[in-house]
Amino acid sequence: MYSGINYIANIYITNQGLSILINTLIMDVFEAIFGRRSIRRYTGGTVTDDDIETLLKAAMYAPSAVNKQPWHFIVFRDEKTMREIIAVHPNSEMLDQADVAILVCWDEHLQHDSGFGPVDCAAATQNILLAAHGLGLGAVWVGIYPRIHRIEALHKIFELPEHVKPFSVISLGHPAEQKPFPDRFDQKKVHSEKWQTTE
Ligand SMILES: Cc1cc2nc3c(=O)[nH]c(=O)nc-3n(C[C@H](O)[C@H](O)[C@H](O)COP(=O)(O)O)c2cc1C
Repeated sequence: MYSGINYIANIYITNQGLSILINTLIMDVFEAIFGRRSIRRYTGGTVTDDDIETLLKAAMYAPSAVNKQPWHFIVFRDEKTMREIIAVHPNSEMLDQADVAILVCWDEHLQHDSGFGPVDCAAATQNILLAAHGLGLGAVWVGIYPRIHRIEALHKIFELPEHVKPFSVISLGHPAEQKPFPDRFDQKKVHSEKWQTTE
């Protein structure tokens, strides 16, 4: 059913006015959601600056509490930085192969109340993953928050100001692995009206 990429006309409004993009290759939203998997092996090909800008734009279109958009993004390619993260993060070896990565952070001065920053960053992170899949890239969410040790270590590595906290790293590259799309729908996780209904 949700197979494939649709060749469609896409009309949208930008800050510059009405832009009409015709014949844009756009992946169906359900294909993006159901077809995305964590990709940890990459070919070594380059992720273009245009693609990175698209990923960041997708991130910034995420919902955020009271529309505070408290996120910041650090795009990095430096192999030394990749190795520094691998040294402090036990599940980040794929960065060794990544062409580029994005650190997603939140600004405690910008977030809505205490605690909403990381939630907003989760939405931004997921948007990047979906957009990467839509662009034919491979990506994986490398978790930083809420592990204190990882937050402190990345805070230091990226020389963040005190009020800016690291949330996630997204490892990116051209995919060198393909994964199946298991059916994850689980009726047992679905409740009607209240947790338990007596019949
Ligand atoms: C909060 C969070 C933290 C994660 N941290 C890591 C990580 O540190 N390293 C990693 O390889 N994958 C990480 N993942 C990816 C998960 O392992 C992956 O999403 C999960 O196994 C499901 O596989 P899928 O993404 O292919 O559907 C993380 C995912 C989330 C949502």
